[in-house]
Amino acid sequence: MIGIDKLGCYVPKTVLPLTTLAHARGVDPDKYTQGIGQKEMAMVSHNEDVVTMACEAAHTILSDEDKALIDMVLFATETGLDYSKAASIYALDVLGLPASTRAIELKQACYASTGAMFLAMDYVRSHPTKKVLVLSSDIAWYGFESAGEVTQGAGAIAMLISMNPRLGAIKEGKKTVRNEKDFYRPLYSKVPVVDGKLSIECYQDMLKEVQDHHPRLYTCFHLPFANMAKKANQVMTHPMDEQHLSVVKELGSRVGNIYNGSLYLSLLSVLMHAKEDLRGETIGMFAYGSGAMAEFFTITLKEDYKSGLNMESLKAIDQDRIELSMHEYESLMNHYENKEYSASLDLSTYVKPYQTFVLDRATSGHRTYKKLK
Ligand code: HMG
Repeated sequence: MIGIDKLGCYVPKTVLPLTTLAHARGVDPDKYTQGIGQKEMAMVSHNEDVVTMACEAAHTILSDEDKALIDMVLFATETGLDYSKAASIYALDVLGLPASTRAIELKQACYASTGAMFLAMDYVRSHPTKKVLVLSSDIAWYGFESAGEVTQGAGAIAMLISMNPRLGAIKEGKKTVRNEKDFYRPLYSKVPVVDGKLSIECYQDMLKEVQDHHPRLYTCFHLPFANMAKKANQVMTHPMDEQHLSVVKELGSRVGNIYNGSLYLSLLSVLMHAKEDLRGETIGMFAYGSGAMAEFFTITLKEDYKSGLNMESLKAIDQDRIELSMHEYESLMNHYENKEYSASLDLSTYVKPYQTFVLDRATSGHRTYKKLK
Protein backbone atom coordinates (compact mmCIF):
# COMPACT_ATOMS: atom_id res chain seq x y z
CA MET A 1 0.00 0.00 0.00
CA ILE A 2 1.39 3.42 -1.03
CA GLY A 3 0.14 6.88 -0.18
CA ILE A 4 0.57 9.99 1.93
CA ASP A 5 2.60 9.26 5.03
CA LYS A 6 2.55 12.81 6.39
CA LEU A 7 0.87 16.04 5.29
CA GLY A 8 2.01 19.52 6.38
CA CYS A 9 0.95 23.04 5.53
CA TYR A 10 2.17 26.61 5.84
CA VAL A 11 0.20 29.77 5.22
CA PRO A 12 1.62 33.31 5.64
CA LYS A 13 0.37 35.15 8.73
CA THR A 14 -0.24 38.36 6.77
CA VAL A 15 -3.79 38.38 5.37
CA LEU A 16 -6.05 40.81 3.53
CA PRO A 17 -9.71 40.73 4.68
CA LEU A 18 -11.96 40.58 1.62
CA THR A 19 -14.19 43.33 3.03
CA THR A 20 -11.15 45.66 3.03
CA LEU A 21 -10.51 44.84 -0.64
CA ALA A 22 -14.20 45.26 -1.53
CA HIS A 23 -14.43 48.73 0.07
CA ALA A 24 -11.26 49.87 -1.71
CA ARG A 25 -12.48 48.59 -5.09
CA GLY A 26 -16.00 50.02 -4.69
CA VAL A 27 -17.57 46.54 -4.78
CA ASP A 28 -20.42 45.31 -2.55
CA PRO A 29 -18.57 43.25 0.12
CA ASP A 30 -21.27 40.55 -0.19
CA LYS A 31 -20.02 39.81 -3.69
CA TYR A 32 -16.65 38.76 -2.28
CA THR A 33 -17.77 37.20 1.00
CA GLN A 34 -21.04 35.57 -0.22
CA GLY A 35 -20.64 35.33 -4.01
CA ILE A 36 -16.95 34.30 -4.11
CA GLY A 37 -17.14 32.90 -0.56
CA GLN A 38 -13.79 34.27 0.70
CA LYS A 39 -13.21 35.80 4.12
CA GLU A 40 -9.48 36.49 3.84
CA MET A 41 -6.58 35.84 1.52
CA ALA A 42 -3.03 35.16 2.68
CA MET A 43 -0.27 37.37 1.24
CA VAL A 44 3.48 36.68 1.38
CA SER A 45 5.44 39.00 3.66
CA HIS A 46 8.70 40.69 2.67
CA ASN A 47 11.18 37.85 3.21
CA GLU A 48 8.92 34.94 2.19
CA ASP A 49 8.81 33.19 -1.16
CA VAL A 50 7.90 29.76 -2.52
CA VAL A 51 11.02 28.20 -0.99
CA THR A 52 10.55 29.58 2.55
CA MET A 53 6.86 28.57 2.53
CA ALA A 54 7.65 25.04 1.31
CA CYS A 55 10.37 24.67 3.97
CA GLU A 56 8.01 25.90 6.71
CA ALA A 57 5.41 23.30 5.59
CA ALA A 58 7.98 20.48 5.46
CA HIS A 59 9.50 21.46 8.80
CA THR A 60 6.15 20.81 10.56
CA ILE A 61 6.18 17.11 9.57
CA LEU A 62 9.73 15.86 8.95
CA SER A 63 11.62 13.88 11.61
CA ASP A 64 15.36 13.16 11.34
CA GLU A 65 14.42 9.57 10.47
CA ASP A 66 12.21 10.77 7.58
CA LYS A 67 14.98 13.05 6.31
CA ALA A 68 17.43 10.16 6.16
CA LEU A 69 14.98 8.13 4.02
CA ILE A 70 14.08 10.86 1.51
CA ASP A 71 15.53 9.97 -1.90
CA MET A 72 13.79 12.57 -4.05
CA VAL A 73 12.28 16.07 -3.64
CA LEU A 74 9.69 17.11 -6.22
CA PHE A 75 8.80 20.80 -6.11
CA ALA A 76 5.48 21.66 -7.79
CA THR A 77 5.03 25.35 -8.52
CA GLU A 78 3.82 27.83 -11.11
CA THR A 79 5.65 30.61 -9.25
CA GLY A 80 9.12 29.52 -10.34
CA LEU A 81 12.12 31.59 -9.24
CA ASP A 82 14.33 30.55 -12.10
CA TYR A 83 13.94 29.12 -15.62
CA SER A 84 16.77 26.71 -14.97
CA LYS A 85 17.55 25.95 -11.34
CA ALA A 86 14.92 23.96 -9.43
CA ALA A 87 13.48 25.52 -6.27
CA SER A 88 13.90 22.06 -4.69
CA ILE A 89 17.69 22.57 -4.63
CA TYR A 90 17.32 25.59 -2.34
CA ALA A 91 14.72 23.74 -0.22
CA LEU A 92 16.81 20.59 0.07
CA ASP A 93 19.81 22.60 1.21
CA VAL A 94 18.05 24.68 3.85
CA LEU A 95 16.05 21.65 5.16
CA GLY A 96 19.29 19.68 5.57
CA LEU A 97 18.29 16.72 3.36
CA PRO A 98 20.85 14.15 2.16
CA ALA A 99 23.10 15.24 -0.71
CA SER A 100 22.29 11.98 -2.51
CA THR A 101 18.69 13.21 -3.06
CA ARG A 102 17.23 13.76 -6.55
CA ALA A 103 15.85 17.34 -6.78
CA ILE A 104 13.48 18.47 -9.53
CA GLU A 105 10.85 21.17 -10.14
CA LEU A 106 7.56 20.40 -11.93
CA LYS A 107 5.00 22.60 -13.68
CA GLN A 108 1.44 22.16 -14.92
CA ALA A 109 -0.51 25.04 -13.35
CA CYS A 110 -2.27 23.81 -10.17
CA TYR A 111 -2.12 20.17 -11.22
CA ALA A 112 1.68 19.63 -10.92
CA SER A 113 1.39 18.70 -7.22
CA THR A 114 -0.94 15.80 -8.01
CA GLY A 115 1.17 14.74 -10.99
CA ALA A 116 4.23 14.84 -8.70
CA MET A 117 2.42 12.75 -6.09
CA PHE A 118 1.66 10.00 -8.65
CA LEU A 119 5.27 10.07 -9.94
CA ALA A 120 6.44 9.82 -6.31
CA MET A 121 4.19 6.80 -5.78
CA ASP A 122 5.73 5.05 -8.80
CA TYR A 123 9.19 5.86 -7.45
CA VAL A 124 8.37 4.41 -4.04
CA ARG A 125 6.94 1.31 -5.74
CA SER A 126 10.36 0.65 -7.27
CA HIS A 127 12.33 1.89 -4.19
CA PRO A 128 10.12 0.57 -1.35
CA THR A 129 12.45 1.53 1.51
CA LYS A 130 12.66 5.17 0.36
CA LYS A 131 10.40 8.19 0.77
CA VAL A 132 9.69 11.08 -1.61
CA LEU A 133 9.01 14.63 -0.43
CA VAL A 134 6.49 16.46 -2.64
CA LEU A 135 6.47 20.21 -2.03
CA SER A 136 3.77 22.45 -3.49
CA SER A 137 4.25 26.16 -3.05
CA ASP A 138 2.75 29.13 -4.87
CA ILE A 139 1.87 32.79 -4.72
CA ALA A 140 -1.36 33.48 -6.61
CA TRP A 141 -0.79 37.05 -7.78
CA TYR A 142 -3.13 38.49 -10.45
CA GLY A 143 -2.29 42.21 -10.14
CA PHE A 144 -4.12 45.21 -8.67
CA GLU A 145 -7.69 45.83 -9.85
CA SER A 146 -7.73 42.68 -12.01
CA ALA A 147 -10.79 40.37 -12.15
CA GLY A 148 -8.74 37.72 -10.35
CA GLU A 149 -7.59 40.05 -7.54
CA VAL A 150 -10.27 38.67 -5.23
CA THR A 151 -9.03 35.09 -5.82
CA GLN A 152 -5.40 35.51 -4.71
CA GLY A 153 -3.59 33.73 -1.88
CA ALA A 154 -0.28 32.15 -0.91
CA GLY A 155 0.81 28.99 0.85
CA ALA A 156 2.53 25.63 0.70
CA ILE A 157 1.83 21.95 1.26
CA ALA A 158 4.41 19.27 2.05
CA MET A 159 3.57 15.60 1.44
CA LEU A 160 5.74 12.68 2.34
CA ILE A 161 5.00 9.71 0.06
CA SER A 162 5.89 6.21 1.26
CA MET A 163 4.92 2.55 1.52
CA ASN A 164 2.59 1.75 4.45
CA PRO A 165 1.63 5.40 4.85
CA ARG A 166 0.41 6.81 8.18
CA LEU A 167 -2.23 9.16 6.73
CA GLY A 168 -3.90 7.36 3.85
CA ALA A 169 -3.62 5.11 0.79
CA ILE A 170 -4.02 6.73 -2.62
CA LYS A 171 -6.00 5.01 -5.38
CA GLU A 172 -5.71 6.19 -8.95
CA GLY A 173 -8.91 7.09 -10.81
CA LYS A 174 -9.39 8.80 -14.16
CA LYS A 175 -7.42 11.65 -15.74
CA THR A 176 -7.84 13.86 -18.79
CA VAL A 177 -5.86 16.57 -20.58
CA ARG A 178 -7.05 19.19 -23.10
CA ASN A 179 -5.34 22.14 -24.77
CA GLU A 180 -7.35 25.08 -23.31
CA LYS A 181 -6.81 28.86 -23.22
CA ASP A 182 -8.47 29.41 -19.83
CA PHE A 183 -5.42 30.57 -17.82
CA TYR A 184 -1.74 30.80 -18.70
CA ARG A 185 1.25 33.00 -17.87
CA PRO A 186 3.40 33.58 -20.93
CA LEU A 187 7.09 34.43 -20.45
CA TYR A 188 6.54 38.15 -21.06
CA SER A 189 3.97 38.55 -18.26
CA LYS A 190 4.29 38.93 -14.48
CA VAL A 191 0.64 37.94 -14.00
CA PRO A 192 -1.54 35.29 -15.66
CA VAL A 193 -3.77 35.87 -18.67
CA VAL A 194 -7.16 34.69 -17.45
CA ASP A 195 -10.54 34.01 -18.98
CA GLY A 196 -12.39 33.51 -15.68
CA LYS A 197 -15.70 32.26 -17.09
CA LEU A 198 -13.99 29.84 -19.50
CA SER A 199 -11.78 28.55 -16.66
CA ILE A 200 -14.84 27.68 -14.58
CA GLU A 201 -16.47 25.95 -17.58
CA CYS A 202 -13.32 23.90 -18.29
CA TYR A 203 -13.04 22.95 -14.61
CA GLN A 204 -16.67 21.80 -14.43
CA ASP A 205 -16.56 19.95 -17.78
CA MET A 206 -13.43 18.04 -16.88
CA LEU A 207 -14.78 17.19 -13.42
CA LYS A 208 -17.91 15.77 -15.09
CA GLU A 209 -15.65 13.65 -17.29
CA VAL A 210 -13.36 12.16 -14.62
CA GLN A 211 -15.54 11.80 -11.49
CA ASP A 212 -16.22 8.19 -10.47
CA HIS A 213 -19.96 8.54 -9.63
CA HIS A 214 -19.64 6.95 -6.16
CA PRO A 215 -21.58 8.56 -3.30
CA ARG A 216 -19.16 9.77 -0.57
CA LEU A 217 -19.25 11.64 2.72
CA TYR A 218 -16.62 14.07 1.39
CA THR A 219 -15.07 14.99 -1.93
CA CYS A 220 -12.26 17.57 -1.83
CA PHE A 221 -11.71 19.90 -4.76
CA HIS A 222 -8.99 22.16 -6.11
CA LEU A 223 -10.33 25.45 -4.73
CA PRO A 224 -9.21 28.67 -6.46
CA PHE A 225 -11.86 30.41 -4.31
CA ALA A 226 -14.14 28.91 -1.68
CA ASN A 227 -17.38 28.92 -3.72
CA MET A 228 -15.72 26.94 -6.51
CA ALA A 229 -16.62 24.03 -4.20
CA LYS A 230 -20.30 24.92 -4.77
CA LYS A 231 -19.81 24.99 -8.55
CA ALA A 232 -17.88 21.70 -8.46
CA ASN A 233 -20.51 20.07 -6.24
CA GLN A 234 -23.25 21.08 -8.71
CA VAL A 235 -21.79 18.81 -11.41
CA MET A 236 -21.23 15.81 -9.14
CA THR A 237 -23.56 12.82 -9.67
CA HIS A 238 -23.83 12.57 -5.87
CA PRO A 239 -23.47 16.11 -4.49
CA MET A 240 -22.69 16.78 -0.83
CA ASP A 241 -25.18 18.64 1.37
CA GLU A 242 -24.47 22.23 2.51
CA GLN A 243 -22.98 21.18 5.84
CA HIS A 244 -20.39 18.85 4.27
CA LEU A 245 -19.63 21.37 1.55
CA SER A 246 -18.85 24.03 4.16
CA VAL A 247 -16.31 21.68 5.78
CA VAL A 248 -14.57 21.12 2.41
CA LYS A 249 -14.11 24.88 1.83
CA GLU A 250 -13.66 26.25 5.38
CA LEU A 251 -9.85 26.46 5.39
CA GLY A 252 -9.69 27.74 1.79
CA SER A 253 -12.07 30.58 2.65
CA ARG A 254 -9.45 31.87 5.15
CA VAL A 255 -6.45 31.41 2.83
CA GLY A 256 -7.46 31.89 -0.83
CA ASN A 257 -5.90 30.19 -3.85
CA ILE A 258 -2.57 28.54 -3.12
CA TYR A 259 -2.55 26.98 -6.62
CA ASN A 260 -0.71 23.62 -6.34
CA GLY A 261 -1.47 23.11 -2.66
CA SER A 262 -5.12 24.10 -2.90
CA LEU A 263 -6.65 20.60 -3.25
CA TYR A 264 -4.62 19.39 -0.25
CA LEU A 265 -5.71 22.44 1.75
CA SER A 266 -9.27 21.27 1.10
CA LEU A 267 -8.31 17.80 2.37
CA LEU A 268 -6.80 19.36 5.51
CA SER A 269 -10.01 21.35 5.96
CA VAL A 270 -11.96 18.05 6.07
CA LEU A 271 -9.42 16.39 8.39
CA MET A 272 -9.59 19.36 10.77
CA HIS A 273 -13.28 20.30 10.66
CA ALA A 274 -15.32 17.13 9.93
CA LYS A 275 -17.70 16.17 12.74
CA GLU A 276 -17.61 12.46 11.78
CA ASP A 277 -15.09 9.80 12.76
CA LEU A 278 -13.07 9.60 9.54
CA ARG A 279 -11.03 6.48 10.32
CA GLY A 280 -11.19 4.14 7.31
CA GLU A 281 -13.17 6.72 5.30
CA THR A 282 -12.56 7.07 1.55
CA ILE A 283 -12.46 10.69 0.39
CA GLY A 284 -12.84 11.78 -3.25
CA MET A 285 -10.14 14.14 -4.59
CA PHE A 286 -10.41 16.33 -7.70
CA ALA A 287 -7.25 17.96 -9.03
CA TYR A 288 -7.43 20.66 -11.72
CA GLY A 289 -4.70 22.70 -13.38
CA SER A 290 -5.58 25.23 -16.06
CA GLY A 291 -4.33 24.73 -19.52
CA ALA A 292 -5.79 22.08 -18.69
CA MET A 293 -5.26 18.81 -16.82
CA ALA A 294 -7.70 17.15 -14.44
CA GLU A 295 -7.63 13.98 -12.37
CA PHE A 296 -10.00 12.30 -9.94
CA PHE A 297 -8.59 9.90 -7.33
CA THR A 298 -9.31 8.78 -3.77
CA ILE A 299 -7.56 8.65 -0.43
CA THR A 300 -8.59 6.03 2.15
CA LEU A 301 -7.66 7.21 5.62
CA LYS A 302 -5.80 4.91 8.00
CA GLU A 303 -7.08 4.11 11.50
CA ASP A 304 -4.30 6.26 12.96
CA TYR A 305 -4.35 8.93 10.22
CA LYS A 306 -3.90 11.74 12.75
CA SER A 307 -0.32 10.55 13.36
CA GLY A 308 0.44 11.80 9.83
CA LEU A 309 -0.55 15.37 10.77
CA ASN A 310 0.97 18.01 13.01
CA MET A 311 -2.29 19.27 14.55
CA GLU A 312 -0.62 22.03 16.54
CA SER A 313 0.87 23.63 13.43
CA LEU A 314 -2.42 23.21 11.53
CA LYS A 315 -4.40 24.94 14.27
CA ALA A 316 -1.82 27.76 14.20
CA ILE A 317 -2.87 28.60 10.60
CA ASP A 318 -5.88 30.45 12.01
CA GLN A 319 -4.07 32.07 14.94
CA ASP A 320 -2.18 35.35 15.38
CA ARG A 321 -2.96 36.54 11.88
CA ILE A 322 -1.86 40.01 10.89
CA GLU A 323 -4.65 41.84 9.05
CA LEU A 324 -3.30 44.16 6.38
CA SER A 325 -4.73 47.55 5.51
CA MET A 326 -5.15 48.34 1.82
CA HIS A 327 -2.03 50.50 1.91
CA GLU A 328 0.02 47.66 3.53
CA TYR A 329 -1.32 45.15 0.97
CA GLU A 330 -0.36 47.41 -1.93
CA SER A 331 3.10 48.11 -0.58
CA LEU A 332 3.68 44.39 0.20
CA MET A 333 2.70 43.28 -3.30
CA ASN A 334 4.76 46.06 -4.94
CA HIS A 335 7.67 44.81 -2.84
CA TYR A 336 6.87 41.24 -3.98
CA GLU A 337 7.00 42.13 -7.67
CA ASN A 338 10.24 44.07 -7.27
CA LYS A 339 11.77 41.26 -5.23
CA GLU A 340 10.93 38.56 -7.80
CA TYR A 341 12.62 40.57 -10.54
CA SER A 342 15.68 41.85 -8.59
CA ALA A 343 19.12 40.33 -8.83
CA SER A 344 20.30 41.89 -5.55
CA LEU A 345 18.35 41.92 -2.29
CA ASP A 346 19.00 42.43 1.40
CA LEU A 347 15.95 41.39 3.43
CA SER A 348 17.76 40.77 6.70
CA THR A 349 15.80 43.48 8.58
CA TYR A 350 12.37 41.90 8.00
CA VAL A 351 12.56 38.83 10.32
CA LYS A 352 9.36 38.06 12.31
CA PRO A 353 9.29 35.95 15.52
CA TYR A 354 7.04 33.26 13.95
CA GLN A 355 9.40 32.55 11.04
CA THR A 356 11.69 29.53 10.90
CA PHE A 357 12.93 30.03 7.33
CA VAL A 358 13.60 33.35 5.62
CA LEU A 359 14.95 34.64 2.35
CA ASP A 360 17.90 36.63 3.67
CA ARG A 361 19.41 38.06 0.50
CA ALA A 362 20.10 37.61 -3.20
CA THR A 363 23.40 38.21 -4.97
CA SER A 364 23.60 38.11 -8.78
CA GLY A 365 20.17 36.44 -8.68
CA HIS A 366 21.31 33.63 -6.38
CA ARG A 367 19.10 33.45 -3.28
CA THR A 368 20.43 32.83 0.23
CA TYR A 369 17.99 31.33 2.73
CA LYS A 370 18.41 31.08 6.50
CA LYS A 371 17.03 28.64 9.04
CA LEU A 372 16.54 30.72 12.18
CA LYS A 373 15.59 28.15 14.85
P1 HMG B 1 -16.37 38.17 -11.55
O1 HMG B 1 -16.80 38.53 -12.92
O2 HMG B 1 -15.67 39.20 -10.74
O3 HMG B 1 -17.56 37.71 -10.64
O4 HMG B 1 -15.43 36.87 -11.73
P2 HMG B 1 -19.05 37.29 -11.01
O5 HMG B 1 -19.79 38.43 -11.61
O6 HMG B 1 -19.04 35.98 -11.74
O7 HMG B 1 -19.59 37.07 -9.52
C1 HMG B 1 -19.10 36.07 -8.70
C2 HMG B 1 -20.27 35.55 -7.86
O8 HMG B 1 -20.68 36.56 -6.95
C3 HMG B 1 -21.51 35.21 -8.68
O9 HMG B 1 -22.09 34.07 -8.10
C4 HMG B 1 -22.40 36.42 -8.47
O10 HMG B 1 -23.79 36.14 -8.63
C5 HMG B 1 -22.07 36.76 -7.04
P3 HMG B 1 -22.32 32.72 -9.00
O11 HMG B 1 -23.24 33.12 -10.08
O12 HMG B 1 -20.96 32.39 -9.54
O13 HMG B 1 -22.87 31.75 -8.04
N1 HMG B 1 -22.39 38.16 -6.70
C6 HMG B 1 -22.91 38.54 -5.51
N2 HMG B 1 -23.28 37.82 -4.42
C7 HMG B 1 -23.77 38.51 -3.34
N3 HMG B 1 -23.91 39.87 -3.33
C8 HMG B 1 -23.55 40.62 -4.41
C9 HMG B 1 -23.02 39.95 -5.56
N4 HMG B 1 -22.56 40.36 -6.76
C10 HMG B 1 -22.18 39.27 -7.45
N5 HMG B 1 -23.69 41.95 -4.37
C11 HMG B 1 -14.00 35.02 -11.17
C12 HMG B 1 -15.18 35.90 -10.72
C13 HMG B 1 -13.81 33.90 -10.18
C14 HMG B 1 -14.28 34.45 -12.58
C15 HMG B 1 -12.73 35.94 -11.24
O14 HMG B 1 -12.39 36.38 -9.95
C16 HMG B 1 -11.51 35.25 -11.84
O15 HMG B 1 -11.29 35.33 -13.05
N6 HMG B 1 -10.65 34.55 -11.02
C17 HMG B 1 -9.46 33.86 -11.50
C18 HMG B 1 -9.77 32.58 -12.28
C19 HMG B 1 -10.36 31.48 -11.41
O16 HMG B 1 -10.22 31.47 -10.20
N7 HMG B 1 -10.96 30.46 -12.07
C20 HMG B 1 -11.50 29.31 -11.37
C21 HMG B 1 -11.44 28.00 -12.18
S1 HMG B 1 -9.87 27.73 -12.98
C22 HMG B 1 -8.83 27.11 -11.73
O17 HMG B 1 -9.27 26.71 -10.71
C23 HMG B 1 -7.36 27.12 -12.02
C24 HMG B 1 -6.55 28.18 -11.30
O18 HMG B 1 -6.37 27.82 -9.94
C25 HMG B 1 -5.19 28.36 -12.00
C26 HMG B 1 -4.27 27.15 -12.14
O19 HMG B 1 -4.69 26.03 -12.39
O20 HMG B 1 -3.07 27.40 -12.07
C27 HMG B 1 -7.24 29.54 -11.31
